[in-house]
Amino acid sequence: MRVLGIESSCDDTAAAVVDNGRHALSSVVASQFEVHERYGGVVPELASRSHITVVLSVIDEALRQARTDLDGVDALAVTHGPGLVGSLLVGVQTAKAIAFARGLPLVGVNHLEAHLYAIFLGDEPPDFPFVVLLASGGHTCLCHARAPGTYALLGETLDDAAGEAFDKAAKMLGLPYPGGVSIERAAQAGDPNALRFPRALPRRDSLDFSFSGLKTAVRLHLAGRGPLGKAEIADLCASLQEAVVDVLVRKSVRAVHRTAAQRLVLAGGVAANERLRTRMVEAGAAEGFQVHLPAKRLCTDNAAMVAAAGHARLARGERADHRLNAVANLALALR
Ligand code: KG4
Ligand code: ZN
Repeated sequence: MRVLGIESSCDDTAAAVVDNGRHALSSVVASQFEVHERYGGVVPELASRSHITVVLSVIDEALRQARTDLDGVDALAVTHGPGLVGSLLVGVQTAKAIAFARGLPLVGVNHLEAHLYAIFLGDEPPDFPFVVLLASGGHTCLCHARAPGTYALLGETLDDAAGEAFDKAAKMLGLPYPGGVSIERAAQAGDPNALRFPRALPRRDSLDFSFSGLKTAVRLHLAGRGPLGKAEIADLCASLQEAVVDVLVRKSVRAVHRTAAQRLVLAGGVAANERLRTRMVEAGAAEGFQVHLPAKRLCTDNAAMVAAAGHARLARGERADHRLNAVANLALALR
């Protein structure tokens, strides 16, 4: 079955064609980077306008790269939450219109579930059950994926997401958006032990996260100093990255032990971070669990992961009708 996936939950307009939930025949992502860059963050109204402008050409391009057209598509999958409601609506209405006009089955996909399905587009997909660490710009949580579509929330951030901590720190340092990429790049030349940033580990037995203290720590470090030199920026970025990675790894190990899982899957934009990937693989080797890493280009927002997650839902017989709506705070799992 060939699924056309559509993603527009935040600031990327994406479309992809995925065969049997496993093989991406195309994956096109139109970034709105230039629209939001000067504001240092995503402006919701501009995001939805931009989605409207490009969504049809992004879909055309995804079909073209997959060497097919709508006749070669068997079903549609679209992200319907969580995200910016005005942005989500563009994808949802477009998918509904195509499905209605072509008489194709349609399914709504949770954006967070889509992130975790990025791993099924790789060569070694994990067997269920597994623990997933989902770290993006809008969310950071640990879930126990017991079976396809059955997820239990183990812990989540109480304030900022891990990616948000990078984005906010980068903004304070005058580094370009998205901050995670800039911080990782600058960190390469820095010493991760140069500065001691706080590792917030709310309650020893909890699997929740807190990253908002990092923002304050960076602000306090910068207060009263003039502009930092290149070496100082590198040290700050390396130390900040180490603090975030430390917490993500420690809590993930705890989650694996608590659930007696044998596998851990990384997902979300922050999973593209090389330091996190390396440290998690090391932790898995030391603690006896396998770590599954999605391809970096599938960690950040894309529609191939949406089509893969949609394929699993379609295969279980799930169908959406014309009432499918955008749900800004759609939850993935409950505790
Ligand atoms: O999953 P995603 O593309 O969008 C959301 O659903 O939020 O994640 C974007 C987030 C941003 O906060 C960005 O700074 C972060 O992922 N990110 C990274 C890296 N690439 C993207 N963080 C750390 N290292 C990276 N290489
Ligand atoms: Zn995302």
